[in-house]
Amino acid sequence: MRNRFYLWLLLISGVVLLAYLTSAAYREMSPEWKKYQAEYRELLIKNAKASGAKNRAMAPEIKVQQIYLGGLKRVERCTSCHAGIENPLMKNEKVPLRQHSGDYLKNHPVEKFGCTVCHYGQGRATNSKEAHGVGHETHWDYPIIPLSYIQSSCVQCHDLETLQNNGSEEIAQGEMLFREKGCKGCHKLNGAGGVLGKALDGVGSQPIAYFPMAFIRGERNVYSWLKEHFDDPRNIVPGSEMKSDFTDREADLLTTYVLSLRSEEMPGKYRLVRRFPDIEIRSAGGEALYRMYCIACHTNGKDSVNDEVFKRTIPAIMNPAFLKAVDNRYLKKVIEEGRAGTQMTAWKSAAAGLADREIDKVISYITRERPHGKPETFGIARYKGDAAHGEELYKIRCVSCHGAQGEGGVGLNLRNPVVQKNADPEFLAITVRDGRTGTHMAAFGEKGVGLSNQDIADVVTFVRALASRK
Ligand code: HEC
Ligand code: HEC
Ligand code: HEC
Ligand code: HEC
Ligand code: HEC
Ligand code: HEC
Repeated sequence: MRNRFYLWLLLISGVVLLAYLTSAAYREMSPEWKKYQAEYRELLIKNAKASGAKNRAMAPEIKVQQIYLGGLKRVERCTSCHAGIENPLMKNEKVPLRQHSGDYLKNHPVEKFGCTVCHYGQGRATNSKEAHGVGHETHWDYPIIPLSYIQSSCVQCHDLETLQNNGSEEIAQGEMLFREKGCKGCHKLNGAGGVLGKALDGVGSQPIAYFPMAFIRGERNVYSWLKEHFDDPRNIVPGSEMKSDFTDREADLLTTYVLSLRSEEMPGKYRLVRRFPDIEIRSAGGEALYRMYCIACHTNGKDSVNDEVFKRTIPAIMNPAFLKAVDNRYLKKVIEEGRAGTQMTAWKSAAAGLADREIDKVISYITRERPHGKPETFGIARYKGDAAHGEELYKIRCVSCHGAQGEGGVGLNLRNPVVQKNADPEFLAITVRDGRTGTHMAAFGEKGVGLSNQDIADVVTFVRALASRK
């Protein structure tokens, strides 16, 4: 019995092996590229005749076509299938035999540049799945880039201006969106930016393993990740604090731009720019800086935002009631030091990397519509604050928004050391008395909720002692 079993096993495995070897041999003898080259040959003869070309088209010998790019130390075999890529006779054929569109190959001769400098992909491969790196389970780090993002590769060698002047505006549009949408409010790039997200230098050449792919719906590669993440960050990274509100087109342009943030450099003789263009605008004015660094969270500065993801309020920093009560010294302190324990970054040069004069420019911008005249003073020095009574009032009136320990929620974080150390008691008292029009912070004074000035002095005394509580 046992012998019979082994005999059968031997026989079956023999048949399987034979079938496998035959199919491998067949594939070896008629690989994909052979088919395209044979087709190319036929089309060439047909098209040459039709166009009346006298000198008969010369098709290359059917074999793997290979380009060696010495300067880049790359070997590329893409033209094994993309056989007609430089041939005008193949203008109307289908990809892969079609002639390349545009002036791209005229400006970048194939024998010097190859294809992967612009398209990526695995140059050595001779079957399309491997060469393109898409459509199967092995996930390559650099599959060919979808044509909608291809302008990201041009910046390895060109500056944005040249590209824009030659009709390749998408990369420049992406860069502009990056500034206008306030990405640097949460991401450093070239040393400046917020710290809620990671620095984006080199993110375009991060390996695929860097990105959590679990929730990606499309092809699992960096391109899909970026696009789908811009569409909805929390779909891809649950609980993400990233902000996004982009049209489909904007998400494409941002993806193109982010992909251009690469860490490796092209060898000098391929580059027309000395290094990756430093698009950092160090001479930007206050408004441009506000857009770059603040707008993602503080929006137009006029509306206070109760942020669902942050689970706290992002204050309206251009609110007239706020501007009227606050002085520039305190504003500067808050912007420099941020608010530890909240999403508000410390913007000083040692942290988020803003220069002193940049912070001054932002302050001039924020305060440009400050109402004339000081607010009616409070004169808190005239009152002797009673912290115990203040605590009672705080529990009734303030806890629901500012938290039991002043940690914030709908209201701001009041126990923050920057507030505690630097906020003028006069500013705090005026804020409690007059509130902030258009936000959840009501006027608690006699004209509003009805607390007396003594009550307000008591509650401010209590608030100012919050940091010393556990
Ligand atoms: C084995 C044959 C083969 C090889 C090798 C090959 N390709 Fe292709 N390529 C094709 C075929 C077939 C198509 C059209 C169908 C498709 O998109 O898969 C194509 C399409 C393309 C497209 C158009 C994609 C689009 O979105 O329209 C690009 C770009 C491309 N190839 C680039 C490359 C590059 C770069 C290489 C070398 C790294 C390469 N190919 C190697 C067969 C090949
Ligand atoms: C200088 C950059 C650059 C180089 C080098 C380059 N391409 Fe392209 N390629 C592009 C751009 C940009 C497009 C998109 C054109 C468009 O959509 O207008 C493109 C489009 C394509 C397409 C889609 C069909 C078409 O012609 O629009 C194929 C296929 C393709 N390239 C293959 C190749 C192959 C194969 C090579 C190498 C022999 C190569 N490309 C070299 C930039 C380049
Ligand atoms: C690997 C580096 C490299 C990449 C990637 C690259 N280029 Fe170029 N490009 C060059 C160089 C070098 C030249 C000059 C060609 C020469 O004179 O040999 C050039 C020339 C050009 C020209 C001709 C105008 C001029 O100033 O001479 C245009 C337009 C152009 N490139 C656009 C593009 C676009 C669009 C892309 C992306 C799709 C791109 N390039 C990608 C290196 C590159
Ligand atoms: C409110 C803060 C915030 C803003 C504004 C913001 N991001 Fe993010 N971003 C994050 C956080 C937090 C993460 C990490 C969690 C995640 O992946 O979603 C992140 C992740 C990323 C990643 C993934 C890369 C990595 O290293 O984790 C990219 C790329 C990215 N952001 C690009 C952008 C771009 C481009 C913009 C502007 C259009 C932008 N972000 C605006 C907070 C922000
Ligand atoms: C990632 C989101 C985010 C970014 C970007 C951001 N802030 Fe803030 N900011 C906040 C939050 C949240 C608070 C409230 C913190 C709290 O609860 O104490 C805040 C508070 C402030 C305050 C205190 C206002 C008050 O009522 O006392 C000022 C001033 C301020 N931010 C200015 C700026 C400036 C200027 C920038 C740009 C350089 C900026 N912020 C960028 C989230 C942000
Ligand atoms: C309904 C919610 C709510 C209540 C109740 C509330 N606040 Fe506020 N408070 C806020 C909000 C929201 C802000 C930020 C205003 C903005 O969005 O611009 C704020 C701001 C403040 C500020 C300014 C802090 C700074 O750094 O600029 C102080 C001080 C303050 N509140 C104290 C109090 C005190 C004391 C009480 C109780 C008497 C109180 N608040 C009750 C919501 C509230």
